[in-house]
Amino acid sequence: MSASRILVTGGASGIGAAIARHWSNLGHNVTITDVNDTAGAALAAEFGGTYTRLDVRSDDEWRAFASAQEPFDVVFLNAGVATGDLIFGNPDTSPFTSFDVAAYRRTVGVNVDGVVFGIAHLAPGMVARGSGDIVVTASMASIYPIPPDPIYGLSKHAVSGFVKSLAPALHERGVCLSAICPFFVDTPLVPKEQQAQIRETGFDVLTVDQVVEAAQMAVAERAPGAHWVVFPGAPISRLPEPTLG
Ligand SMILES: NC(=O)c1ccc[n+]([C@@H]2O[C@H](COP(=O)([O-])OP(=O)(O)OC[C@H]3O[C@@H](n4cnc5c(N)ncnc54)[C@H](O)[C@@H]3O)[C@@H](O)[C@H]2O)c1
Repeated sequence: MSASRILVTGGASGIGAAIARHWSNLGHNVTITDVNDTAGAALAAEFGGTYTRLDVRSDDEWRAFASAQEPFDVVFLNAGVATGDLIFGNPDTSPFTSFDVAAYRRTVGVNVDGVVFGIAHLAPGMVARGSGDIVVTASMASIYPIPPDPIYGLSKHAVSGFVKSLAPALHERGVCLSAICPFFVDTPLVPKEQQAQIRETGFDVLTVDQVVEAAQMAVAERAPGAHWVVFPGAPISRLPEPTLG
């Protein structure tokens, strides 16, 4: 297989870094973008890839980035944040106890705008070429409630609806859009003490490698609109589509 051009947003840490390393190890040309320049540049240097600063909340930065690139073969729209910086066990982010407009805008900006702008600027080139894959890092919070961070839940449900709604039109033009939906993962987004709390509820915490496997499945299967669920102790599975009528 010839080397593909791969993009990973939020590629300096956690799931994005693992996805970037994986595709680079397979011999592909990987570009990572992030706002953490130190970690991003160090990681790209480690695997011989490219790092570019790109705040996914900025339509202008997306426009400048996309106009300087040939179309990518595979795009991972992965950058994401939790409202109170911690994905689990931070009830202070509840809108009715302490609504913080800036934190709300940041979460929706990164998790929703970051996906919508990314597709708006990168999909036209892929559509013109008639090929490519876009995989969005959604979440179990795209499917189930996440009471400790309702804003995060809102953002991940929004992204899920966007993927399902847009995927058929992109599919007709040769581009596959799908999502991966991991349970809690061992990344800096879930500090170790919170991971311990999660384990106390009887569920294990995923490794980034398990999420990489789901990302690989999404690219291999090319199922438009699919949501690939990664749950501890269970095989990776595709979320059933509701049947109407
Ligand atoms: N860790 C989990 O339990 C978990 C579970 C399900 C889904 N997710 C999702 O996985 C994705 C990756 O999260 P992670 O767990 O690897 O977290 P992480 O914090 O390790 O990585 C997120 C990366 O996004 C970057 N980022 C933050 N704001 C940005 C911005 N404005 N522009 C560009 N990059 C920005 C960060 O600098 C960081 O490198 C997110 O979308 C997250 O919602 C995580």
